[in-house]
Amino acid sequence: MDTIANSVSKLLTLFLTVLFVGSELTHCNVTYDRKSLLINGQRRILISGSIHYPRSTPEMWEDLIWKAKHGGLDVIDTYVFWDVHEPSPGNYDFEGRYDLVRFIKTVQKVGLYANLRIGPYVCAEWNFGGIPVWLKYVPGVSFRTDNEPFKAAMQGFTQKIVQMMKSEKLFQSQGGPIILSQIENEYGPESRGAAGRAYVNWAASMAVGLGTGVPWVMCKENDAPDPVINSCNGFYCDDFSPNKPYKPSMWTETWSGWFTEFGGPIHQRPVEDLSFAVARFIQKGGSYVNYYMYHGGTNFGRSAGGPFITTSYDYDAPIDEYGLIRQPKYSHLKELHKAIKRCEHALVSLDPTVLSLGTLLQAHVFSSGTGTCAAFLANYNAQSAATVTFNNRHYDLPPWSISILPDCKIDVFNTAKVRVQPSQVKMLPVKPKLFSWESYDEDLSSLAESSRITAPGLLEQLNVTRDTSDYLWYITSVDISSSESFLRGGQKPSINVQSAGHAVHVFVNGQFSGSAFGTREQRSCTYNGPVDLRAGANKIALLSVTVGLQNVGRHYETWEAGITGPVLLHGLDQGQKDLTWNKWSYKVGLRGEAMNLVSPNGVSSVDWVQESQATQSRSQLKWYKAYFDAPGGKEPLALDLESMGKGQVWINGQSIGRYWMAYAKGDCNSCTYSGTFRPVKCQLGCGQPTQRWYHVPRSWLKPTKNLIVVFEELGGNPWKISLVKRVAHTPAVHGQ
Ligand SMILES: *[C@@H]1O[C@H](CO)[C@@H](O)[C@H](O)[C@H]1NC(C)=O
Ligand SMILES: *[C@@H]1O[C@H](CO)[C@@H](O)[C@H](O)[C@H]1NC(C)=O
Repeated sequence: MDTIANSVSKLLTLFLTVLFVGSELTHCNVTYDRKSLLINGQRRILISGSIHYPRSTPEMWEDLIWKAKHGGLDVIDTYVFWDVHEPSPGNYDFEGRYDLVRFIKTVQKVGLYANLRIGPYVCAEWNFGGIPVWLKYVPGVSFRTDNEPFKAAMQGFTQKIVQMMKSEKLFQSQGGPIILSQIENEYGPESRGAAGRAYVNWAASMAVGLGTGVPWVMCKENDAPDPVINSCNGFYCDDFSPNKPYKPSMWTETWSGWFTEFGGPIHQRPVEDLSFAVARFIQKGGSYVNYYMYHGGTNFGRSAGGPFITTSYDYDAPIDEYGLIRQPKYSHLKELHKAIKRCEHALVSLDPTVLSLGTLLQAHVFSSGTGTCAAFLANYNAQSAATVTFNNRHYDLPPWSISILPDCKIDVFNTAKVRVQPSQVKMLPVKPKLFSWESYDEDLSSLAESSRITAPGLLEQLNVTRDTSDYLWYITSVDISSSESFLRGGQKPSINVQSAGHAVHVFVNGQFSGSAFGTREQRSCTYNGPVDLRAGANKIALLSVTVGLQNVGRHYETWEAGITGPVLLHGLDQGQKDLTWNKWSYKVGLRGEAMNLVSPNGVSSVDWVQESQATQSRSQLKWYKAYFDAPGGKEPLALDLESMGKGQVWINGQSIGRYWMAYAKGDCNSCTYSGTFRPVKCQLGCGQPTQRWYHVPRSWLKPTKNLIVVFEELGGNPWKISLVKRVAHTPAVHGQ
């Protein structure tokens, strides 16, 4: 009896142990200590990269994530974009490019971890910073402060996302890939007073209360409330330290490049400097680095923030906008990651000793004294190379560089010694080279009659459109006496229109007079130009255009768009005539938008006119359509829109984004990798259109009869539009 009972009890213990250990392995909370995150109880140095799911297509995701894995990444980081998921209160969309669960499961399938940055404010050069525009119109709301309507909406969305992830078992604590989540983003309560502090405390405890079993982080937050981890963002992360001695040092946005705005140049960040910044952070005890972006992708549709952020969100990332590997950035970083991983044990278990090796020369040594030893040798001098002596050996350090010695002897990697050739990228025409266009003139004839909104004076644009369209017509009428002297050969009167931005096209009696455009720095714009007026009633129609809504700035939700006034006529016999407080009519969107001309279902709702290259009319606002067959091959595709002005393009009903051939101003002279990086240091494309090529995802095409619809605002020439393929000759990827 005794023995049997004993055996049974032993078996039971064994069984329970197996059960316990098993559940420990698959259902393990992620924790942290002063050195790093702990996954399955293990400290880890983690290399992460941002890939935003709506900025590519589900068909691209797996390939992008595999490339990230081969590039030495452990984690994929994404924001969650509230505005696309909840287009109106309580109505959710998680389809197609917005299929967050599929994206996270793809990360899991490839075998990487995920950082889910819920925000819900994301900044991200994304329309309205990712907050739905409808939230601005909830009574009493004030964004991102201790405000009940905002907190209620923000909590609702955060809970919804966490619940969705939990029910799919996607947190690491449930056996899923998510090891970290973010709440709020780039906040800085220290400058936002008591209400800001109260809000951040509330956001932290709300998030922690959701019980995900993984830590929460706040990005660019120096003083995150416990147990939330503070982390930094920027081109460098040197002055940063955790706000509590028991928190790890994390860099949740390591900027791999910079975004582009229409009218500005392309910014590049040399990989020598990027890898230097990462090595410098790791040698100081940093344990988590996230490249923002690892793949930037495309701002499809009207998702670009702004104003004036381009449709391309390439970001000079290691994987380019089209999903192709960018060399030497990709492989040089891959070598860096390998070198860091070879030091992982020393980095997570030891604290560095810092030795001076001379002026602006340092060694960070992680040594146990009994075997484990890794060293980082740094030359901070931006001008001169140095030879240093460390442990009786000599090492050559180029300017502004760090060498990594995983065994304290052999320098396996130096940040400035790039051993990979740059990619050679070409945009090659594919057949059919040209499109055969039909056109439809945007109808301006009955604008005022079809308006359902009239008001004395000028209304703020978003309040009228609620961002359902970029376009808002402001229409009024002005009576001109037949006795005006300009009617008998005097100087024409002129109109002066003040706008908060972002662009305005002026029409008088159906004729185009001119346009004005703002810039990102100077948001407002003024139109001033002569107008053709006649005796009697004259119709003034101002087409105000937004180019992506503000995504950053203190209470950016209160910043206005559209015609603010005054609107003045100059040069009449009485002098100036103020139209600001006239009766104005409003019309949201274009006629072609209302008829859904962009979609295969709506395209036949007007009579299109066959165009020929010779007969094309020069009317200002014009729709074009054509059909084309998909080119063979697998290379990514783009439209070359250099001959166009400004507008939007749709393929089979899906918007590939806003286009604008604004020419890049700026200084594109020398670029040196060494010394503190700023985006103006390394610029490309000055004097060229900022963005000439627009990504057409392969998966949006059928084999034949693809519908392309273009809306052009500036009289551009569609006959020179061509479809091109992107071909990159990338030298063999090291070690693959
Ligand atoms: C794991 O995290 C959950 C949610 O935060 C918590 O309720 C649970 O107690 C944690 N488990 C362990 C073993 O720490
Ligand atoms: C929006 O317009 C309405 C009606 O004209 C006005 O009462 C309201 O104050 C406006 N709201 C904002 C936020 O501009």
